[in-house]
Amino acid sequence: MSGSKFHASRRSAVDPFLAMEVLKAAGDREAAGHHVVHMEVGQPGAPAPRPVLAAARAALKDGRFRYTDALGIRALRERIAAHYGEAYGTEVAADRIAVTTGSSAGFNLAFLAAFDPGNRIALATPGYPAYRNLLGALGLEVVNIETSADSGYVMTPEMLVAAHERAPLAGVLIASPGNPTGTVMHPDALRTLVQTAERLGIRFISDEIYHGLVYAGIAETALKHARHAIVVNSFSKYYCMTGWRIGWMVLPEDLVRPIERIAQNLYISAPDISQRAAVAAFDATEELEAVKAGYAANRQLLLDKLPAIGFDDFFPVDGAFYVYASVRRFSNDSVDFTRRMLDEAGVAATPGPDFDRERGHAWMRFSFAGTGEDMAEAVARLGRWLG
Ligand SMILES: Cc1ncc(COP(=O)(O)O)c(C=O)c1O
Repeated sequence: MSGSKFHASRRSAVDPFLAMEVLKAAGDREAAGHHVVHMEVGQPGAPAPRPVLAAARAALKDGRFRYTDALGIRALRERIAAHYGEAYGTEVAADRIAVTTGSSAGFNLAFLAAFDPGNRIALATPGYPAYRNLLGALGLEVVNIETSADSGYVMTPEMLVAAHERAPLAGVLIASPGNPTGTVMHPDALRTLVQTAERLGIRFISDEIYHGLVYAGIAETALKHARHAIVVNSFSKYYCMTGWRIGWMVLPEDLVRPIERIAQNLYISAPDISQRAAVAAFDATEELEAVKAGYAANRQLLLDKLPAIGFDDFFPVDGAFYVYASVRRFSNDSVDFTRRMLDEAGVAATPGPDFDRERGHAWMRFSFAGTGEDMAEAVARLGRWLG
């Protein structure tokens, strides 16, 4: 005990994001003169698409960047709404779009607007760690629902009903394609899960940040099946704009005004320049599909080569840019294993406990968002190290 009257709040005691800790360790190795192949963070290596950069340059000429409406500039909200017609054949009113500072802010707003402290929220594990950490910081109870080969690698309606019967759930959050798994829910599986949640009065939050990055199957939007769902998306992944901190949500009517009020108070608005630039992101399909073709080639290389190296058990890699692989052949401690892999093979990857605190010690995540050369180098290094 320090005896001090000052201390951090209990709610701030969230877990560190291990992927970022690995990134730091990899940076230290590079500073010491070693070459590291980065497979730890999920971020596109490609720059923002050309029309986005051109729009940003034009905005810079004007030079006036201001607060915008809390829900975003009209042109971007309308462009995003039109995207739902083009990509999914679904009509959405621009008034239901909220532009956010990355999907990360979208989750914050959604949790604050839809739930009260103490509410129970179901998450599929393995899953993205920030959901769990943010929910915890906001005083919400996380209900982990374990997915595996037995459940077809996804949360089923039966699993949701069982958790709700144990004690009522207020919400459920699903990502398809998922992180760390890349697994895509079949459109029928998504529909029945969404409809089950609607029937039970459980607010469905759909993280669609990896839409556009699908190699097998179809990623359907939850919007099609639910009046009360919150859809969260972002320009970070498919659109290669992580650092621009810009994303969006499609909101049910009843949450538009609450989210607007919270956004006004939480961060006023998303960055003006990023909003003006993002309008052009939807005109860059050819360029972005070329980037995606690079991920597809990386994915194929890993699927071909990893099994022979000993990583032969992984979730279906249908989308996103991750392989979530078992390390059981080599170790029961993936934190130690990834540390040694970085030190001895010079390949950085993220240990499973980031995504699944119960079972993650036997798993790890490779990101294949890097270049083809990086992937080939990683495979060669891992083959030598483990061979
Ligand atoms: C599943 C998932 N959701 C949300 C995010 C947050 O992304 P951003 O805030 O850049 O939109 C990430 C980032 O890796 C992610 O993997």
